[in-house]
Amino acid sequence: MPAASGKFITLEGGEGTGKSTQSLLLRTALQQRGLEVVLTREPGGAPGAELIRKLLVEGDQARWDAMTEALLLFAARRTHLRETIMPALKRGDWVICDRFSDSTFAYQGDAGGLGRAVLERLAALALDADSPVPHLTLVLDIPAEAGLARAKLRGGTENRFESLGLAFHQRLRESFLRIAKQEPDRCALIDAAPDPETVAKAIFAAVSSRLGQGWAVTGSGNG
Ligand code: TYD
Repeated sequence: MPAASGKFITLEGGEGTGKSTQSLLLRTALQQRGLEVVLTREPGGAPGAELIRKLLVEGDQARWDAMTEALLLFAARRTHLRETIMPALKRGDWVICDRFSDSTFAYQGDAGGLGRAVLERLAALALDADSPVPHLTLVLDIPAEAGLARAKLRGGTENRFESLGLAFHQRLRESFLRIAKQEPDRCALIDAAPDPETVAKAIFAAVSSRLGQGWAVTGSGNG
C-alpha cells in the first residue's frame, strides 16, 4: 500500500455494546477535524458483501454451522476490502469499520468452536497478502447480560446471533477481552457501560492519543 495518511479503525464487541452509535459519533468527530471519513461495516460494506450479509444475519439460527459462516464471512470480507476499504485508504481517507476480523475470531473461532488456527488459514487463502490490518481497534466492553438487554431494547427482529444463549455471549465477551489483552498495541479497551457521550469521549481520547495529529481533546470529543 502506498504511503497515505489514512487510518483504518475498527470497532468490536458483543451484541448491544453500542458500536453502531459510536461509529457514527466518531465519524462526526473526525470529519470536524477536516478528515475524509468512510464509515462501513461487516458483514457488508460493498454491494455484493451486503447480499452475503443478509444470508448471515437472517433466518433460522441453525441455518449455517460455524465453518459455513466463516466461508461466507471471508467471501464478504474479500469483496469489502477490495471494493471499499483498500480504495479508501489509498485515497488517504480514514476508514471506520463496525466489526472486522476480530468478530470472526470471537464469534466463529472461540464462541463457535472453530479455533483461531483454522481462521488464520482461511484468511491466508481468501485475502490478498497486502490486505490492511487495522491501525486501531476499539474493543467496546459490557457484561453480556447488559448487552443482550440493550440489543433487545433497540427492537426490530433479532439477528441469528442475538438468539444464541447467555453462555455464548459470555464466551464472546471473554474472547474480545482476550484479544484486547493479547494485542495492546493495536487494541484499546473501552468501557461501554456508561452513557453514549461518556463512551464517545473515551473513544475519541483513545483515537487521539494513538493516531491523533495533535488534536486537543475537550468536551465530548465531538465538538
Ligand atoms: P449486526 O446487526 O450488525 O450486529 P451488531 O449490531 O451486534 O453489530 O449483525 C452482525 C452480526 O454478525 C453480529 O451478530 C455478529 C455477526 N458476525 C459474526 O458472527 N462474525 C463476523 O466475523 C462478523 C463481522 C459479524
